[in-house]
Amino acid sequence: MNRGLFITFEGVDGCGKSTQIELLSKYLKENNFEVVITREPGGKGLGEKLREILLNYDGEVSDRCESFLFLADRAQNIDTIVNPAVNSGKIVLCDRHTDSTVAYQGYGRGLDIDTINHLNNLATNNKKPDLTFIFDIDTETSMKRVGKNQDRMESAGIEFQNRVRKGYLELAQIEPERVKVIDATKTIEEIHEEVLEIIKKILHN
Ligand code: TYD
Repeated sequence: MNRGLFITFEGVDGCGKSTQIELLSKYLKENNFEVVITREPGGKGLGEKLREILLNYDGEVSDRCESFLFLADRAQNIDTIVNPAVNSGKIVLCDRHTDSTVAYQGYGRGLDIDTINHLNNLATNNKKPDLTFIFDIDTETSMKRVGKNQDRMESAGIEFQNRVRKGYLELAQIEPERVKVIDATKTIEEIHEEVLEIIKKILHN
């Protein structure tokens, strides 16, 4: 049986990570790996309900409440989707995870980073990704890609998105082994090739 892997995909809204997850999944399946795709917020079941609230609820949501909802969804995702799949040797590709909370609620909303790290550890029961991709892009380009139809998080403004981007880049400096930054202004094919280069090293480890 292959060793299971937990790989997360991060970046500001409109960075193109979902396209890259699909391409990587196709490559891995063609090479006989078992792949599970999940996302935060909203893997499946209860997670989908939490996603609906987090992205579309139009009443007041306090910053702390928002954080706890993302963390609740994370605990559910880890317990019911990620761990069972990784433990049975599958490769889990997860669209957003702990680094999103550091970048968005920490750098974006201004909540204390140490507290967020602590809460993230509680939510994941200390499970860590084996590898994380950050798709880095200037926020003017990314917000153009997002367009006018914006959800609750996307409509927080360009300054907010800039703080989130800065947060991601700092995270990559803190954990260079786990976190790999990819220039998301390149073409879809070029980005896919870079992702594959990194993945192949891990698969052959
Ligand atoms: P995403 O699934 O990338 O949205 P879309 O499908 O529209 O591309 O992300 C949902 C939003 O939730 C995104 O704006 C980032 C935000 N988010 C946080 O603020 N904190 C978190 O912990 C997570 C997981 C996501």
